[in-house]
Amino acid sequence: MNGTRRTLNVPRPFLKWVGGKGQLLGPLLQQVERAGEFGRYHEPFAGGGALFFELFRTNRLGRKRAFLSDTNARLIDAFLAVQEDVDRVIVLLEDHRARHSEEHYYAVRSKVPADLFERAARIIYLNRTCYNGLFRENSKGIFNVPFGRYAKPLICDEVNLRAASAALAHARVEVRPFESVLSKAQEGDLVYFDPPYDPVSRTASFTAYEKGGFGREQQEALAAVASALTEKGVNVILSNSMTPFIRSLYEGRFTIAEVLANRHVNSRADRRGAVSEALIRNF
Ligand SMILES: C[S@@+](CC[C@H](N)C(=O)[O-])C[C@H]1O[C@@H](n2cnc3c(N)ncnc32)[C@H](O)[C@@H]1O
Repeated sequence: MNGTRRTLNVPRPFLKWVGGKGQLLGPLLQQVERAGEFGRYHEPFAGGGALFFELFRTNRLGRKRAFLSDTNARLIDAFLAVQEDVDRVIVLLEDHRARHSEEHYYAVRSKVPADLFERAARIIYLNRTCYNGLFRENSKGIFNVPFGRYAKPLICDEVNLRAASAALAHARVEVRPFESVLSKAQEGDLVYFDPPYDPVSRTASFTAYEKGGFGREQQEALAAVASALTEKGVNVILSNSMTPFIRSLYEGRFTIAEVLANRHVNSRADRRGAVSEALIRNF
């Protein structure tokens, strides 16, 4: 019984990612339903790929081709390795699990292996055992999160890794900036954009995913890409924070729905709790 329930619960993201969309899956699926039949699926800010895995898990993708991309090469490495040879990733993770200790964590953290599969296992291992369980690189592109003290971290979630690998069998996974979706997406396709969010306040900076960041110019460039896709007849769904700036970029030509989510951690107690997010669509 347990085994059945578990199988139905996969695949899920195998990496916990900053800005992961676990919480917004319900409202996002409603938007996908509204879009109706679609051709291929594109996620140009893939992160952990929460919506991609959910669409696959709920049979909404079937054998449709999917395109997942992100500018974070370490993240894409992990997707590629799980896609190509999940057995190898599992063996390497089992080895990390057997050797897990604070000392082992820092030894693994200190060097990036040359082999793709070892790099993937390293990221998954660090992601599962680091403080806060979030993969975050500093401005120099270095992963410097300290050891997390978990009683029993689930280092090798074999069932989920195998399910994720099956989901990725029909996907093309690449390191690419979001703009390139413009040349890939065809009429009738569905694109889900989940960019780093426009900060709700000047101190709430959630855009430091990696060197470079994602500022207002990139948000404007993204809105221009979304408009160009609309002209091509591509279905577009986009999530972002509900700030006046984001509204001004999409109001008029797009439909903006408001959803409440508990995602932004705010240091000011009076601003904690549910915040409003924008789900934007062109259909
Ligand atoms: C909000 S996260 C996506 C979260 C994802 N939907 C999930 O469920 O985990 C934004 C992602 O955009 C990526 N990114 C940042 N700048 C980018 C760019 N110019 N082009 C493509 N991806 C970019 C980051 O590496 C990060 O993974």
